Amino acid sequence: MRKATISISALVAAATLVLTGCGSDAGTGNTTSAAANSPAAGATTASETATGETSTGAESSASSAGSETSASSAGSESSGAGVTGKVGVILPDTTSSTRYTLYDAPLLTAAFKDAGVEADVQNAGGSTAKYTTIAQSMIGAGVKVLIMDSIDPTSGAAVEAMAKKAGIQVIDYDRVNLGGSADYYVSFDNELVGKLQGQTLVTCLADAKITDPQIIEMDGGTDVDNNAVLFKSGAQSVLKPLQDQGKLKIVSDSVVKGWNVNEAAPTFTQALTANGNKVDGVLAANDDIANAVIGVLKAKGLAGKVQVTGQDSGVVGLQNILNGNQCMTVFKNVKLEAEAASKLAIALIKGEDPAAAGIKVASFDDPKGKRTMKAVLLTPQVITIKNVQDVVTAGALTAAQICKGIEAKCTAAGVK
Ligand code: BGC
Repeated sequence: MRKATISISALVAAATLVLTGCGSDAGTGNTTSAAANSPAAGATTASETATGETSTGAESSASSAGSETSASSAGSESSGAGVTGKVGVILPDTTSSTRYTLYDAPLLTAAFKDAGVEADVQNAGGSTAKYTTIAQSMIGAGVKVLIMDSIDPTSGAAVEAMAKKAGIQVIDYDRVNLGGSADYYVSFDNELVGKLQGQTLVTCLADAKITDPQIIEMDGGTDVDNNAVLFKSGAQSVLKPLQDQGKLKIVSDSVVKGWNVNEAAPTFTQALTANGNKVDGVLAANDDIANAVIGVLKAKGLAGKVQVTGQDSGVVGLQNILNGNQCMTVFKNVKLEAEAASKLAIALIKGEDPAAAGIKVASFDDPKGKRTMKAVLLTPQVITIKNVQDVVTAGALTAAQICKGIEAKCTAAGVK
């Protein structure tokens, strides 16, 4: 399936800045070289000042699987003014990535609060049964729009069918339910995420002067999540041609099924052992898988010698980068994703055509459902030790959050 880059009025500026600020091909999709680093991209979202909500919300919701965070609708002068109608948001789990409690829950809550629209943001804690129960109760409570980040597309599509029957509009958030019935999709350019991982891994290996590198791939939940499929295909589009030219070798390709991070360390250990404990680079799909890989590498005295990728720019991933154990992560500014989803939801509640409301959507093909969805796909950014500060500048995390316990590393890397 293909995707296109789109924007929502306020997002246009940020997205444009991503491209201009990069000074490289990162983010354009037009990526042929291995130079995917974008150290200058701090300009990206300099205007996004971040909210105390990010950190506070993250802490307060850290243990909130299945719990409720409500943003009330008092007094607003923003785009949701005058909107009556509640929005339900369901996130998938709290363990496959720290993003859901660190970023998504607080930022979605804040986006609706700022717009003056009532939102019920919940997390299914990895249980499809719980997901369905939450959805049923939101539908019963009369939500006008349901924003769904599904556990898998089958259970997701079933919930969508229930919502549709009740006349509720659905936005697929971050993960698309192929074969489902939602008309809208808000996410990042996920194939580009994978490309950036592949390209930066190649750059890191070259910078470390490793020739003929042997690479282990640690994919995410390709069995449950189309994003994981796109991450993999984006990375393969970079690595496979290099393998064909004899420049590197992918020694194994493992899947962390269901994004179950508990499986990541044993899966990686097996791949590493099968290759006689030899590995130069690990294409890890996200920071949580990377962290499990780094744990195994540490136990074998290999951490820091092996180039490891990641994704999500959570605290642990960034600390692994600053400690020299991970060579990159992908920063997907969830604030922009949450704002895009909230603006779209508000337009739908108002019965406005998103385009008329200044939301630019592009087409996204769902080959399984043989249909075309309307999508907003944002641009991801590479983070290496050279530009960790960009995450702070964008307001996603504070230096204090990132640097706790590793202050000297932060000083050395210019993170403040
Ligand atoms: C998200 C990633 C996340 C992964 C595991 C994907 O769908 O896009 O950000 O790391 O799921 O939760």
